[in-house]
Amino acid sequence: MKILSGTSNPTLATQIADYLDQPLVRVHIERFADQELYCRIDENVHGANVFVIQSTSQPANEHLMEMLILIDALKRNLARHVTAVIPYFGYARQDRKTAPGAPITAKLVSNLIAKAGADQIISLDWHKEQMQGFFDIPAYDLDVSPLFVKNIQADFNPDEIVLVSPDIGGVLRARKLADYLNCDIAILEKRRIENAPVILNLIGSVKGKTAILVDDIIDSGRTVCLAAQSLMEAGAKDVRAYITHGVFSGKALNLVEASMISQMFVTDTIAHTKASPKVHTLSIAPLVAKAMQSMATMC
Ligand code: R5P
Repeated sequence: MKILSGTSNPTLATQIADYLDQPLVRVHIERFADQELYCRIDENVHGANVFVIQSTSQPANEHLMEMLILIDALKRNLARHVTAVIPYFGYARQDRKTAPGAPITAKLVSNLIAKAGADQIISLDWHKEQMQGFFDIPAYDLDVSPLFVKNIQADFNPDEIVLVSPDIGGVLRARKLADYLNCDIAILEKRRIENAPVILNLIGSVKGKTAILVDDIIDSGRTVCLAAQSLMEAGAKDVRAYITHGVFSGKALNLVEASMISQMFVTDTIAHTKASPKVHTLSIAPLVAKAMQSMATMC
């Protein structure tokens, strides 16, 4: 097994490599004057089973292109098997036509990765499970729920909490966690009006309980902060949030700071440069490393 990191999340890649007691493959990445990317593998990968770790986080297009070039370079240098490990899969939200004239960009990106030469994909918490069907190569969507469950169970009994989905699309995610925790769920009905989220209804009761919001992504932060406000207005004692991918665009962290959320837990699928005392990071390195280890024995 060989492990190679793109530039999107070198800290996570190093933690995964350390967990597996492997050095990272040496790569050289630079840009031409016009910003065109140049990526070169600086060691022998002939016949190797290589895992390329790269989140296609902001800047999504740059990180995506870098990963495609790295995969191409590995294949042209006769790597036997290449797995694209994409902790955060940018464009996963665009998994359906949301309006006449709209593309399905998640499908386009999945085609590009397979076309570049990847033999399989490992990722985490796609926006929707049907993403699995987009790939013409094996694709595995790792489940972060056990990480969240462990953290929640350390602080609460099941009767003290309600798992909440901030929108109808996230009900299965909330249901899965609630089943693990053996607690109730509630659902917020969210609509986007001119791309701004609006909460319309709460299905279920959060009165007197700690509401635990669960979502795949925090991007602008508006969904989860608005959801927290609705839950407090509906009588919740406190609101916590567990979110897989901390995108935190623009002023998202300021919004979280000013919100009714007392604590937020995100994973390290995306490298963070900003900090907030309310936001805590749970590492997915062991989860991903174990998945890579078991897949390495299969191919
Ligand atoms: C939406 O379907 C997703 O699950 C997230 O709720 C959404 O992407 C979060 O975006 P934002 O933080 O910008 O409201």
